[in-house]
Amino acid sequence: SSSVVAISPYACQRRTSLNNYNKLFTDAFEVLAENYEMNENKGPYLGFMRAASMIKSLPYAISSMKDLEGLPCLGDQTKAVIEQCCQDTEKSTIKSCINFARSQSIILFTSVFGVGQKTAEKWFRKGLRTFEEVQVHKETKLTKMQIAGFLYYEDLSSFVTKPEADAIGQIIEDTVRLFMPDALVTLTGGFRREKKIGHDVDFLITTPVPGNENGLLEKVIDVLHQQGILLYCDVVESTFDKSRLPSRKVDALDHFQKCFAILKLLKQKVITSNCEEAEEPSNTSTKEWKAIRVDLVITPFDQYAFALLGWTGSRQFERDLRRFATHERKMMLDNHALFDKNK
Ligand code: CTP
Ligand code: MN
Ligand code: MN
Ligand code: MN
Repeated sequence: SSSVVAISPYACQRRTSLNNYNKLFTDAFEVLAENYEMNENKGPYLGFMRAASMIKSLPYAISSMKDLEGLPCLGDQTKAVIEQCCQDTEKSTIKSCINFARSQSIILFTSVFGVGQKTAEKWFRKGLRTFEEVQVHKETKLTKMQIAGFLYYEDLSSFVTKPEADAIGQIIEDTVRLFMPDALVTLTGGFRREKKIGHDVDFLITTPVPGNENGLLEKVIDVLHQQGILLYCDVVESTFDKSRLPSRKVDALDHFQKCFAILKLLKQKVITSNCEEAEEPSNTSTKEWKAIRVDLVITPFDQYAFALLGWTGSRQFERDLRRFATHERKMMLDNHALFDKNK
């Protein structure tokens, strides 16, 4: 079953559909990768992420070591995990990978919007194990972001559906058009990759007339606030400096003005098909709205193409695009531009 055509070691040169025939392996890899990342062990982290990404592109399910012949991106560590998984009919290797080392409390704490690894570990060291313990503990100082994270925890930890993303898109587009009728509002992130669910909804906003994007985000935020649907908002100002070359840092944040927000989406605004609505009773919530994480990114028109490429993801695809540009083309790619190092 192994393929005849050579598979590229770069995600950006592989065709990858949403059908993953090897979810058992890739889940195990991603959990292991996350663990290495947590311990700031970059090498094995990238190794497992790269292997997971490559395996996702395979048009068949791996069932034995023979299926791995000629495949790129697999090292001794990743092969050992696959070998164990193949031999093990109970799938206990995979289950043990998934329970691997990571403290349940750390998993719980970092699932809150605004709580990162450092904060989760600090709370754990103080002996805190549950949300309630964190919230009643006298010394705990929560940031505005964490307060929102706890307040809307249930909504934010459930997946965003495509109809919900489209409803948010309509709101953003209507609001932007109040000020800039020719503005472009583009859905990016996982939903642009045709994923059916996401953790948030990402948008790029640009206008064809240079400079017209200045001040737009503030106006949009103001309207959302006045409508009473802005539950949380953290604006990050643009840090773009034309004199500077693109950043060499892997996974560096870009310089665009953006906001990380939580919006209140009225359920009546979500257009679902009848069969989807029939499944609703499983949702016991009686409230008429859902809190949704939304990222808005403002880009000058001349950088829009690069921003779109950068914000479409996946993270591994972006990482490999930059790696390909550097190593195979001697160019530098980021969310702002593509630079030819020879010119
Ligand atoms: N991204 C970026 N710069 C950031 C944040 C994100 O370039 N500061 C890019 C990443 O490449 C990422 C994409 O934007 O792939 C979308 O980010 P994110 O919303 O975190 O991930 P999704 O792929 O949309 O998946 P999810 O459903 O979990 O949101
Ligand atoms: Mn997203
Ligand atoms: Mn995400
Ligand atoms: Mn996002």
